[in-house]
Amino acid sequence: MRKPFVAGNWKMNTDSHSGVELARAIADGALDAAGHSVDVAVCPPFVYLQAVAGALSSTSIAVGAQDVYCEQKGAFTGEISASMLKDIGCTYALCGHSERRHVIGESDELVNKKISAAILGGLLPIFCLGELLSEREALETDEVVSRQLRNGLSGLDVEKVSAVTIAYEPVWAIGTGLTATPEQAQQVHALIRKLLGEMYGERVAEEIRILYGGSVKPDNAAELMTEKDIDGLLVGGASLKADDFVAIIKSSL
Ligand code: PGA
Repeated sequence: MRKPFVAGNWKMNTDSHSGVELARAIADGALDAAGHSVDVAVCPPFVYLQAVAGALSSTSIAVGAQDVYCEQKGAFTGEISASMLKDIGCTYALCGHSERRHVIGESDELVNKKISAAILGGLLPIFCLGELLSEREALETDEVVSRQLRNGLSGLDVEKVSAVTIAYEPVWAIGTGLTATPEQAQQVHALIRKLLGEMYGERVAEEIRILYGGSVKPDNAAELMTEKDIDGLLVGGASLKADDFVAIIKSSL
């Protein structure tokens, strides 16, 4: 049985004060749920990670980075390694978020290296993938998702892939208010699990959690979570409001 997992991606929002306040309010609200029946993480901007990790240190809410570099150390000006993130209390790192793929221009190959580097440095990657609206309209969703999945996990053996959480985030649903219907999401989640089964065997495929992300709100979270292969939620905008994020956590139980 896969334990539900709800992660909040704060993107480039909050400041040092409001980030810590938000983390505390989420911890207070989710006190009885987090850690017991649902895993919860928040992903603040890099510069506030340490402060937020400190504020959450006595809670069961984990902290994740929004990105991670593909090397562990060296002459990579401006980049942050997995071991550095681990060192300041991070548990997770998002890899391949659509804003990094489509705004910053990250390739499948780079995302693959970041996933491997995250695992090597002791982090648990949350591997994001999903199709553009134009790709969905051209009926290419399955092909795009399959390619992103296979390329992203290339070279990872069974042991390493067990550290990975997958997040299906259709790009057309991110920050747009357009959520995939539970059926649309389930269809892609089932495809991802089938592919994982082909790549790693049934047992591993049954254990890997697949989150849905894209305009998740308190009023659609519970319905999404009823689908068989939706194991949790990656929440952007609604994770910036403690009440909304707590309501989403509670409806994922
Ligand atoms: P959203 O973002 O919930 O604001 O659509 C989701 C994400 O980008 O992870």
